[in-house]
Amino acid sequence: MALIPMRVLLDHAAENGYGVGAFNVNNMEQIQAIMAAAQETDSPVIVQASRGARSYSDDNYLRHLMIAASELNPGIPIAMHQDHGNSPETCKSAVDMGFTSVMMDGSLEEDGKTPASWDYNVAVTKKVVEFAHAKGVTVEAELGCLGGIEDGQGAGLSEEEAQDHLTDPEEAGEFVKLTGCDALAVAIGTSHGAYKFKKKPTGQVLRMDVIREIHKRMPNCHMVMHGSSSVPKELIDIINEFGGEMPETYGVPVEDIQEGIKHGVRKINVDTDNRLAMTGAVRKLLATQKGHFDPRDYLKPARAAMQEVVAARMVQFGQAGNAGKVEQKTLADMVKYYS
Ligand code: G3H
Ligand code: 13P
Ligand code: ZN
Repeated sequence: MALIPMRVLLDHAAENGYGVGAFNVNNMEQIQAIMAAAQETDSPVIVQASRGARSYSDDNYLRHLMIAASELNPGIPIAMHQDHGNSPETCKSAVDMGFTSVMMDGSLEEDGKTPASWDYNVAVTKKVVEFAHAKGVTVEAELGCLGGIEDGQGAGLSEEEAQDHLTDPEEAGEFVKLTGCDALAVAIGTSHGAYKFKKKPTGQVLRMDVIREIHKRMPNCHMVMHGSSSVPKELIDIINEFGGEMPETYGVPVEDIQEGIKHGVRKINVDTDNRLAMTGAVRKLLATQKGHFDPRDYLKPARAAMQEVVAARMVQFGQAGNAGKVEQKTLADMVKYYS
């Protein structure tokens, strides 16, 4: 099956009340782990690459790996998504590279750090919607800012400061109407990376009420939750047991994500949990098999550990069992739909 537009997956998820995990990739093993989990659970998938991933792996390697993934898994609908595009140019280059979906993150300026104005966000998002929809490509936008900073991306807001940059439900409706985006990433107090919360989050810091309010006002809006890794203690413990030094930290509980899915969340971004799983497996192998030096010896358990996390999320988000049920619409079909 060719790569399909992300909008098709989100529409199916909305019609059937589930969410779709969007998993970040940088290399072959991560793509293989996601595809193996999708096969194991019969799930449609969103595979996403950040700007950092695109420069780390080179677009062309990524593109061919994704073509391989679709050839080897003909029964799995796959959307290929640009995560956190910082400008219309970045999104355009992703469309040209064959991505079937792009995120124009106009919540920050082009430097990926400075919170942007409403007018800037509307203008860049509209521009991307115009050229992406002309090719049938899906567009995700963001309103409000996440906390934290990851690989140079993010406003660097603390857990407390992030509370001042949450998505305003009233503005969300206006923003979606003005820009015509397909999906809206909302800021509800989460941040990228492993250090989201200093203790198990309560409703005061993880503002699920914002999601419920937006859904009440816009029941048809596909919402996206960024920074949605759950940062399981078991994964941190493995890293620390085998030489790592990660302090106590908390992520987004899966039950909160499931609550979000009941109220319009259709795409859930997960990167950190997979990083933790892979790193723990590599540390364990290298610490316990000190004579080993073949990269396959540690990449294989790393890939298996990521597959386990991804498969678990696919079941928890409800996308499992839906691979064969998604209509196989093409980019050309979506061009007609948008026009
Ligand atoms: O946006 C956050 C994702 O975890 C990607 O991170 O920019 O380090 O590839 P990255
Ligand atoms: P995590 O760092 O919580 O996995 O979030 C990833 C993300 O939002 C990518 O856009
Ligand atoms: Zn993100």
